[in-house]
Amino acid sequence: MIILAIETSCDDTGVSIIKSESKKKKISFSDFELLSNNISSQALIHSPYGGVFPAIAKREHQKALVPLLIKSLKNSNLLKENKKGLDNKKILKIQKILERNPDIFKDLKEFFKKYQTPEINKIAVTIGPGLEPCLYTGVNLAKALSFYWNVPVFGINHLEGHILSNWLSPIEKVEFPAVALVISGGNTQIIQMENIGKYKLIGETRDDAAGECFDKTARILGLPYPGGPAIAQKAKEFKKAEYNIILPRPMIHDKNYDFSFSGLKTAVLYNFKKRTEKERTSKEYICEMAHQIQSSIIDVLTSKTMKAAKELNAQSVILGGGVSANKEIIKEFKKLCKKEKINCIVPQPKFSGDNASMIGLTSLISPNVKKTTWQRLKPNSNLKING
Ligand code: KG4
Repeated sequence: MIILAIETSCDDTGVSIIKSESKKKKISFSDFELLSNNISSQALIHSPYGGVFPAIAKREHQKALVPLLIKSLKNSNLLKENKKGLDNKKILKIQKILERNPDIFKDLKEFFKKYQTPEINKIAVTIGPGLEPCLYTGVNLAKALSFYWNVPVFGINHLEGHILSNWLSPIEKVEFPAVALVISGGNTQIIQMENIGKYKLIGETRDDAAGECFDKTARILGLPYPGGPAIAQKAKEFKKAEYNIILPRPMIHDKNYDFSFSGLKTAVLYNFKKRTEKERTSKEYICEMAHQIQSSIIDVLTSKTMKAAKELNAQSVILGGGVSANKEIIKEFKKLCKKEKINCIVPQPKFSGDNASMIGLTSLISPNVKKTTWQRLKPNSNLKING
């Protein structure tokens, strides 16, 4: 079984290919092979805006998708030249499927002309949550390929993908029940997990996501997008408090597992505004502020997640999403989990951000994933994880 996976929920275009011959119900790391994992990042393009601009992200996905498909097939040794020519009747239908994505149609027509139908047995594609115009690009490509190649297609929940990205690496047996924390640019959610595929959303952000807070506060400080790595770097350079910056830890004492990060962003903005130009641009101020922002986010994330883990008697805490690449966040979670004798599971940095490998793997290991027809496949930008 060879799976083609596609991810376009936000600003990273991902195409991966996974192979598994296993007939087992529970697939582990040794039962599959990642043949290719290609990502095209739009970070530089969105950098001047300090965040993701959906119309631009859509345009960039359209440009990147077919070239990444070709690269992934080539990496996987699945690209073979076509000597038969195009199936013109099918092409007319493909044009209809891709009528809102003419760039993809143009590239795909060339692709079909040049290359044979590869040995792909199924297609997995992110259907949500995410930015709707972006989700449509991946979904429409998946529909077109499913129709032209006559292979089944599976719609995948992006958040489940982030949780299961941990299974892309050789991890020890994960003990359940678990508490998963998905922290990315668009989501901050605490999920109670009875097993793979059994989830209950128990807390989420009421406004900005943790990654969004990193991105927005970085922008205030004049740091580049994405803000998470930029803030982390400046926080690392922090030596001594000179500005006495104290930031809030929003909702840290509330009884629920919800988050709020927009107040933190506002507190950063107020502090920044009352500074002189010289102070604002000084290395000392920026590093101290970055350190405070990161500490505040870490305190809130760890306190809420560990509270949930203890109250729900979790055996494991599972992290996922772009923000889980943050070394200080990982360090703190590992320390707290060790103290509570809870397993702490963190994805490899190359799989923490958006990628298609996690989408392909989810289609292999999650019992939630149901086959659909390309005609029925459609994105849901607000897709929930409960199931
Ligand atoms: O999961 P992801 O790639 O996709 C989106 O939801 O877009 O997460 C991207 C987010 C961005 O907000 C970025 O600033 C943040 O992850 N991020 C980090 C780090 N690396 C990426 N945040 C904190 N520390 C990092 N090292």
